[in-house]
Amino acid sequence: MSVEEFFDRVISVKLPEDCESLDIIDQTLLPGTVKRINLRTKEELWEAIKKLRVRGAPAIGVAAAEGLAMLAKKIDTADQQEFYRQFKEIADYLATSRPTAVNLFWALNRMDAFCRDHLDLPVDQLKQELIAESRRIREEDVQISRNIGAIGFKIMQQVRKPGQPVGILTHCNAGTLATAKYGTATAPMYTALEQGWAGTDMHVYCDETRPLLQGARLTSFELYNAGITTTLQCDNMVSMLMQQGRIDVVFVGCDRVAANGDAANKIGTSGVAILAKHYGVPFYVCAPSSTIDHDTPTGAQIPIEMRGPDEVTEMWYKERMAPEGVDVFNPAFDVTDHSLITGIITENGLLSAPYEL
Ligand code: MRU
Repeated sequence: MSVEEFFDRVISVKLPEDCESLDIIDQTLLPGTVKRINLRTKEELWEAIKKLRVRGAPAIGVAAAEGLAMLAKKIDTADQQEFYRQFKEIADYLATSRPTAVNLFWALNRMDAFCRDHLDLPVDQLKQELIAESRRIREEDVQISRNIGAIGFKIMQQVRKPGQPVGILTHCNAGTLATAKYGTATAPMYTALEQGWAGTDMHVYCDETRPLLQGARLTSFELYNAGITTTLQCDNMVSMLMQQGRIDVVFVGCDRVAANGDAANKIGTSGVAILAKHYGVPFYVCAPSSTIDHDTPTGAQIPIEMRGPDEVTEMWYKERMAPEGVDVFNPAFDVTDHSLITGIITENGLLSAPYEL
């Protein structure tokens, strides 16, 4: 299977021509089962985001935008004000699905602003315009990844030791499954392939990413299928990898960047950044500019999603891994202090300290 064929197979969100449903890959079943499901109601879309069937900040944004357009098409009124009332109700409901990735709110707000700006149109026409706007959000995301990939690829060329594959570490999944196509943290790797590098010219170390194993289930699945040399390790093995000099650069994705450059990403990311600082490994956050939240001054104000204890005590295992009733700490994200970040790669360029966003 070519990389392009693989992309087609794992595009995480699609809005079919008839716009009657949102077609997503159920990421909770990967890597064993590649199954697409069709979401038809706002409750189904909300549940799919909440349960991480669709996940990753940009993919959540695309799903929210295209899902909202799909649901708006089903609103049964010709009255513009009534249409907007129901549209806003759906948008507000979807906004309660997950709190940390700002792309969800960014996409819903963009659709909302577009709807308000075009409320003078007949409702049927407005519905078509909303679908077109949601498709633009998807297309823009593909281009964003390409720009991030180009910048990240230059960095890969700079850090590569002569005669060796470039050693890259990534955490969680900021790949194809988490975006409209090329990923953010993975975009430099896919760009390298497009630029003629062999999969063996890079060696990507994927953190397993407890508790939901996005690195094991999703990132290593993606990169391995793309023909890139891929190694999977548990989260507590990063220090040793860096100590042995195997990591030349870290690329991670991001759910929200605060105005001072603090960046929230999957739980465990800040630990990787601290280790990278210790071992002198450059640490880059790959983030579409829609992930920058100018209204949140520092990481301390970023809402961190807390998830259920079962994800830690039993999910993914056949037997319970911890005693019944034990207290569990399960934040889904943590904040990496801006002082630990070598640079933030956006589609508009490479940002570096001092971050004043
Ligand atoms: O809980 P998840 O799986 O949605 O967390 C995803 C991440 O932390 C990603 O790294 C982030 O959303 C960036 S995706 C390009």
